[in-house]
Amino acid sequence: MRYALFMKIALTGVKPTGVLHIGNYFGAIKPALLLTEKYEARYFIADYHALNVMKNPAELKAAIRGIAAGWLAAGLDPEKVIFYRQSGVPETFELATILSAFASKGLLNRAHAYKAAVQRNIERGEDGDAGINMGLFTYPVLMAADILLFNADVVPVGRDQTQHVEMAQDIAGALNFNYKKDLLKIPEAVVREDVAVVPGLDGRKMSKSYGNTIPLFSGGAALRKLIMRIVTNSQGVEESKDPDSSQIFSLYKLFATEDEQAALAARYRAGGMGWGEAKEELFRVTDRELSPIRGRFDALMAEPERLDAILKDGSEKARRIASGTLSRLRKAIGID
Ligand code: TRP
Repeated sequence: MRYALFMKIALTGVKPTGVLHIGNYFGAIKPALLLTEKYEARYFIADYHALNVMKNPAELKAAIRGIAAGWLAAGLDPEKVIFYRQSGVPETFELATILSAFASKGLLNRAHAYKAAVQRNIERGEDGDAGINMGLFTYPVLMAADILLFNADVVPVGRDQTQHVEMAQDIAGALNFNYKKDLLKIPEAVVREDVAVVPGLDGRKMSKSYGNTIPLFSGGAALRKLIMRIVTNSQGVEESKDPDSSQIFSLYKLFATEDEQAALAARYRAGGMGWGEAKEELFRVTDRELSPIRGRFDALMAEPERLDAILKDGSEKARRIASGTLSRLRKAIGID
């Protein structure tokens, strides 16, 4: 473990919901793993955040393990990254209580996710707060605790999460202001802007909510079948094709080397290659990258004790940092 003092800290949380797909892999996992080269990384499974929406214990447990195994299989090195579960660091919840005293209700009223839920209710003619639990309402406070507990400098997130990071800044600022001391480090969001939009099977952005995903761990035959389902136009085999307007080619670029990309683009333009053949070539490079990940994933899922031990070890490391922040804070606020 490198604890170099000069390295800035990157922290992010992953909610355990659903099955990882290649959109998550290229959009979130790979960029976060790349950051671990330059930052001291602290990545965790936000399991208590997931409880707001997942009330089935078997499903939640499976989702936690699945997401942890997925990140590890994709290359997260637990020797290099502190990798833990939010629930494994109870200091988080104590800090959330402290932060609640500094988070104005008005601030939380303005949270996009909460406002959208209220709006949906109103559109359906229901009471604005129907079905909305306090966990959803105070979600940004818990997320602020996740971030502030670990002195994060940067928080890599998707665009939809930037407001939450800004709220963490506001809450930390309010606390620091009250005690006239920089007790909590003010974090910055790092938004994943330039990551490729991964097209789904139907050409729209790959997303669980569109049902157009390629799961990261679909096995050889299943993967091939999904790729064969990609929607194409009706151009015949002999026709020259435009790589830049082809989803098959957009997906190909994510997995193929530069040389392979140039070669396939030339074949597109020359004509004589049908969509079926292009899909076979896409399957080849996709399976080449995904099959080792799938192998590691299956091995981890077959040994849940090993997986749990990795997360427990990470949680212990995380708690050492967390308890430092918390005792400093408790002293400062007069509860020690
Ligand atoms: N809210 C984030 C999401 O839905 C997950 C999350 C929880 C998180 N705690 C965090 C992200 C702390 C960054 C930092 O994606």
